[in-house]
Amino acid sequence: MTAPVRPAQDMAALADAALILRSGGLVAMPTETVYGLAADAGNARAVARLYAAKGRPRFNPLIAHVADIETAERCGVFCDLSRRLAAAFWPGPLTLVLPRRTDAPVSDLATAGLDTVALRIPDHPAARALLAAFGGPLAAPSANPSGAVSPTTAQHVAEGLGDKIDLILDAGPCRVGVESTVVAIMDGKAVLLRPGGLPRAEIEAITGPLAAAGETAAPAAPGMLKSHYAPRAPLRLNALEPGAGEAYLGFGPGALEGALNLSPGADLAEAAANLFAYLRHLDAGAPRAIAVAPVPEAGLGEAINDRLRRAAAREDA
Ligand code: TXA
Ligand code: MG
Repeated sequence: MTAPVRPAQDMAALADAALILRSGGLVAMPTETVYGLAADAGNARAVARLYAAKGRPRFNPLIAHVADIETAERCGVFCDLSRRLAAAFWPGPLTLVLPRRTDAPVSDLATAGLDTVALRIPDHPAARALLAAFGGPLAAPSANPSGAVSPTTAQHVAEGLGDKIDLILDAGPCRVGVESTVVAIMDGKAVLLRPGGLPRAEIEAITGPLAAAGETAAPAAPGMLKSHYAPRAPLRLNALEPGAGEAYLGFGPGALEGALNLSPGADLAEAAANLFAYLRHLDAGAPRAIAVAPVPEAGLGEAINDRLRRAAAREDA
């Protein structure tokens, strides 16, 4: 049976979603970044089902999505710096990895046994309404089979996981289009674990220069496997034109006429919003490879290039 797709604006659908979550079920919810697959973070059986539905290695911990700062403070230990980041960017595409409170209402399975917890208040009315109706933290990885491209529409979710989950809430395409930026705060220092929908410069305006994972004792995001976000077709990056049998993904005004273009006007926010849907679209044509135009590294370009490099690094496994 495939999961029903219901409009996220429908109050009855939201109420049903909260009931499903309370009884240990799985609900795909829209967020401003990508669609997430939500489960009751405090229910280890629900979280186990979530890992199984995604085919996700269990050592890869999940983000606990919360409705408000009060709930976040019940899960993680905040310091002055993490409070300032939360005040500046929540709700929004920032995930904070903080020391986990011993009494956090989050199962050990959701945090993969780590002594840290990843927290985020999403900036999407449907996600926030669902969190409020549910009344506790929701574990929610991107709603795709592990290793595949993240979903930015309800249709993408249905294609990848429709037969493994209970309900899909549909709010149309995601505004940001790449996952949240993950920042760990350890001993008062901020470490960038994953570039994402909140550009580095905005964070650094508050933290000063971010340390890179690996430069400090902070654990790297275990989910940052080199090969990730991968379409089936191999990717060829920084390609100025397609080779024989290759599909082309352009960027900017000079790109190949007639080819799909992430942003003809070279707008990085538009490119981020289009990235995963366009990769899926080109992949569906089963090309020999997908050749991708160079995308500048500035602003959201850091997250776009990170996802492209991971997609290109796929091993045939
Ligand atoms: O935008 C997003 O972040 C989306 C939406 C649904 O909120 N979620 C998402 O979740 O991308 P996921 O599970 O695909 O990626 C979460 C990342 C992974 O790289 C994971 O390893 C890392 O966050 N992470 C989670 N908990 C962590 C922790 N305690 N320490 C270090 N990294 C952690
Ligand atoms: Mg993911």
